[in-house]
Amino acid sequence: MSEKTFTYADIESHKTRDDLWMVVHGKVYDVTKFVDEHPGGEEVLVDCGGEDATDAFEDIGHSDEARKVLDDLLVGDLDASEKRKSTKAAPTAGSEISSEPASAPSFVTILSIVLALVAAYIAYTKYM
Ligand code: HEM
Repeated sequence: MSEKTFTYADIESHKTRDDLWMVVHGKVYDVTKFVDEHPGGEEVLVDCGGEDATDAFEDIGHSDEARKVLDDLLVGDLDASEKRKSTKAAPTAGSEISSEPASAPSFVTILSIVLALVAAYIAYTKYM
């Protein structure tokens, strides 16, 4: 079975009481025929029409029964590019370039300074 994919632009055109789609967990559902039966009332569904209703759906703590109803209403998948948009920007490669703090001077640096001081001291005692 080939599943259709939809963008939000597609879904947004179905947000009326008589033609109502919504997205739950990245899937697209046509809830038009369920509006009358929804135990939570039609208004909340129409409010989420054409949008991602995942949070609203989960906040209510819908039962397994409600999830089974969803299966019957499925019309397709949310387009992969939309999924990427809705999740937080993925860290891009290179965003974690190791930025070591200007750390303590290395052993070589300290040795160079000590040697320079010793040389300066020797030069000072020799020529003064
Ligand atoms: C297409 C998606 C949805 C389906 C299939 C669905 C289905 C159901 C079902 C079967 C119930 C009865 C209780 C249960 O079994 O959990 C219910 C209750 C409820 N639903 Fe939904 N629902 C959907 C979306 C929403 C959305 C988006 C909201 C928005 C807030 C919502 C709000 C509620 C509320 C408030 C109740 C509780 C009603 C009560 O106990 O008085 N539902 N829903």
